[in-house]
Amino acid sequence: MIRVTIDGVVQETTSGERLIDVINRAGVKISQVCYHPQLGPIQTCDTCMVETNGQLVRACATTASAGMEIFTKSEKAAAAQREAFDRILSNHVLYCTVCDNNNGNCAIHNTERLLGIEHQPIPYHSKPYEEDHTNPFYRYDPQQCILCGRCVEACQNVQVNETLSINWEDPHPRVLWDGGSTIGESSCVSCGHCVTVCPCNALMEKSMLGHAGFLTALPKTTLGGMIDVVKGVEPETGYGAILKLSEAESHMRELRIRRTKTVCTYCGVGCSFDVWTKDRHILKVEPLDGPTNGISTCIKGKFGWDFVNGPDRLTKPLIREGGKFREASWDEALDLVARKFREIKAKNGPDSLAFVSSSKCTNEESYLMQKLARAVIGTNNMDNCSRYCQAPATQGLFRTVGYGGDSGSIRDIENAGLVLIIGSNTAESHPVLATRVKRAHKLHGQKLIVSDLREHEMAKRADLFLHPKPGTDIVWLSAVSRYLLENGMANTKFLDQWVNGLEEYKKSLAPFTMEFAARTCGLSEDTLKKVAHMIAEAGGVCVLWAMGITQHSMGSDASTAISNLLLITGNYMKTGSGAYPLRGHNNVQGASDHGAMPNFLTGYQSVDDPEVRSRFKAAWNVQLPSTKGLDNHEMIDAIHQGKLKAMYLFGEEMSLVDSNANFVSDGLSKLDFFVVQDIFFSATCRFADVVLPASPSLEKEGTFTSTERRIQRLYQVFEPLEGSRPDWRIIQDIANRLGATWQYQHPSEIYREIASLTPLFAGVTYERLEGFKSLQWPVAADGTDQPLLYTKEFAFPDGKARLFPLSLTEPTDQPNAEFDLHLNNGRLLEHFHEGNMTYRSEGIREKTPDTFVEVSPELAEERGIQSGTWVQLTSRYGQLRVRALVTDRVQGKELYMPMNSVESPVNRLTSSHTDSVTHTPAYKEASVHLRVLPEVGESPLPRINHRFGHPTPQHGVEVERKWKRPDYRMPGNGLVQIQTN
Ligand code: SF4
Ligand code: SF4
Ligand code: SF4
Ligand code: FES
Repeated sequence: MIRVTIDGVVQETTSGERLIDVINRAGVKISQVCYHPQLGPIQTCDTCMVETNGQLVRACATTASAGMEIFTKSEKAAAAQREAFDRILSNHVLYCTVCDNNNGNCAIHNTERLLGIEHQPIPYHSKPYEEDHTNPFYRYDPQQCILCGRCVEACQNVQVNETLSINWEDPHPRVLWDGGSTIGESSCVSCGHCVTVCPCNALMEKSMLGHAGFLTALPKTTLGGMIDVVKGVEPETGYGAILKLSEAESHMRELRIRRTKTVCTYCGVGCSFDVWTKDRHILKVEPLDGPTNGISTCIKGKFGWDFVNGPDRLTKPLIREGGKFREASWDEALDLVARKFREIKAKNGPDSLAFVSSSKCTNEESYLMQKLARAVIGTNNMDNCSRYCQAPATQGLFRTVGYGGDSGSIRDIENAGLVLIIGSNTAESHPVLATRVKRAHKLHGQKLIVSDLREHEMAKRADLFLHPKPGTDIVWLSAVSRYLLENGMANTKFLDQWVNGLEEYKKSLAPFTMEFAARTCGLSEDTLKKVAHMIAEAGGVCVLWAMGITQHSMGSDASTAISNLLLITGNYMKTGSGAYPLRGHNNVQGASDHGAMPNFLTGYQSVDDPEVRSRFKAAWNVQLPSTKGLDNHEMIDAIHQGKLKAMYLFGEEMSLVDSNANFVSDGLSKLDFFVVQDIFFSATCRFADVVLPASPSLEKEGTFTSTERRIQRLYQVFEPLEGSRPDWRIIQDIANRLGATWQYQHPSEIYREIASLTPLFAGVTYERLEGFKSLQWPVAADGTDQPLLYTKEFAFPDGKARLFPLSLTEPTDQPNAEFDLHLNNGRLLEHFHEGNMTYRSEGIREKTPDTFVEVSPELAEERGIQSGTWVQLTSRYGQLRVRALVTDRVQGKELYMPMNSVESPVNRLTSSHTDSVTHTPAYKEASVHLRVLPEVGESPLPRINHRFGHPTPQHGVEVERKWKRPDYRMPGNGLVQIQTN
């Protein structure tokens, strides 16, 4: 700690802290238009000038040193601040009363108020550019742009999409997309970072325009007239009087604009943000304080919420009658569900019913669903869609380190010396998490190795890109482990202290020589040795993996191989290291954590453990089944075998997302009684006997658990759409009709019960999760959580990790002469999963209207295919038609299909083969025959898709170029001064 004085008052700080942060912490008001703590110093606005040692310096770019005397209001400093702000005003018209950004948080308005400038010595000058409205979600108004560069910094160095720059050398600088494209045709991925950090109205969400203010919906000509009037009276009245009026209008807005914290409903990163609403209109999503994401979002979290007010939301229960659905009252539908469940249970026993929980819904809802299955019906036939993706990763971690969760936080990934990404298209599937890797790689020297079939964005950025043959990751991972052990590059100290099973593991590595791996995987030995050396030499390795690893017939073993590799190199128990299976859905981690599994109650407490069962029996006052129930995969088989008669599923599109969709759909149609609960009439609803209308996340309270094991609260933004109900209420209603006496009035009461029964969540309370607070499990009774999962020991009785021996398994469904192409599949950035929510966003549809199959340029040439050619894909399990997209993201005879389609779901082509341990389908092992159809249509991706853009990477705002302009001088001293950070 050191001491400095601010305007004569002593303040404690640490050496090296930015003066602006010290000043802000001391509560001293100072102008700082371009400074944003999450962006760091940009130094474009000069409004933060302070005096120290008789010199003017930028407070944002100067660091504290012992004894420093800082004057924020000296004559020199004040004059410099005013001069700097005056220059800003020459780029911006103050028409706050009719501006949609007049919401109390406009940096220009507030700085004007702070500095009290009444008149503008430097007049406003317009720029020779039009507004750009070509992006569906936001617009840029160059006339109001003050050239602070926050947007550029956010795009270049936080999102690291590298679309934005400023042409500082131009007579009229402005923000450029791809160096001068329209926004719509640029590489912009619509993540919204730039819009979020813009301090004024230059970048605004279109959903705000004409909606936020009382007068802002007026026609443009009327508004223009009003703005001219304001400009006209300003010389006489000064800004003070004008601002008073606009502040009154701003206060009035507070009465009708609500800001409610929620957690994103899409992927497992767990971004949280405020949602601004006016009645049922979403004005904007504002990220700022989220523990995971700060100012970050992706297109879906920032802009993908149209579905909530979609015109086709279900609002009435539906009952199938005579092959058709008819509307019914809630009472009739719920009575029917209860009666049928009771009858089927009485006739066929409790295990003839099965329950599928939703990884989109809350922890509390998963808990109630499994309680309904176990305590009310009496079956463990309970699962969730982690079966489709994450179960093998969990298994790999159970085997080796004990807990089935990420071993640290996203912050720990940022701290790694090397990030190894395997089978994960992170920039599209976990966009905000990927930004942290991209930033660390771009700015902080982090190394990046990517192994994937496709050369996606992370692969293009990688220091080393591996393209192994499909399904061979376990081989090269094990060979690298063997090489490290044999060449003295393993961490023997860590192994001695923390790891069991080394000798047996070493024996199991016998087949995995470098030569064998190179041949099997199609990689060179030199490449594999390079991987080994990079791992050994890195100061901490994090491995990120996803469905490219888990959705294989050896998914559990490949996940285990990753953890083995981390153990032998000592890459656990410290920041910047560890295993990170990236959870797909927003609450897929939480659904499993909260007991929606056939073998576990909450917190992975085994159903066959008598102590566990007796604790739950005592609390629930019922007998509980003790043998593992059916998982999702087994449920479908059991229907075909006539053993499973009824199913209750909520918030899952099982008929499209389960593998071998034709077989699954056929099974669902055979059920005697099928209840589907959803917000839309999904494809799975087609097989239902009763459809119950539920509420999405914005219409309920509860908690989600992200990939970081982070439990976060969501608050109710809207009342449930009339006719729909939150899932937890519906489940409770059904349970009570079946004889339960549940009395939950609020999800917090459900969580209190969960915490009381689950050591892993003992200290989780709604109070401890208030606002943007969060907890990363395990959470001790006193509320202590564990952001870094293993610090003192591993989660086994002796506290030691276990190396798990592995053997070689061949992938299934291999190509042959008839099915000669390998078909890979996965997510796209702009659509989530099958697309039930994102296709309801007009803007997303405009950018990405449909699915497609990616074909390599060489295969396209061989078969006479161009982008837009219709092709028929036939596998051993089904057939579909789709348009081709020719791209070098894929190579040779490997195809890729995004999974977002209702008409042509890729799972019509995938098989029923599974990982032998977890029954996760081997989605990534599919072979197809491709027939070129005569029709050639438009390219399935329109020109306005970001994939056709041309980013312009640079180091940030590059303010030095501004300082070199002949018309620039540093305010206050009359000299041109170059000051770099
Ligand atoms: S990618 Fe687009 S939305 Fe995201 S920061 Fe860059 S310009 Fe803005
Ligand atoms: S558009 Fe960019 S440069 Fe212009 S005011 Fe907004 S953040 Fe600053
Ligand atoms: S989809 Fe994922 S990355 Fe995008 S905003 Fe939501 S949680 Fe964040
Ligand atoms: S806040 Fe320091 S230069 Fe803008």
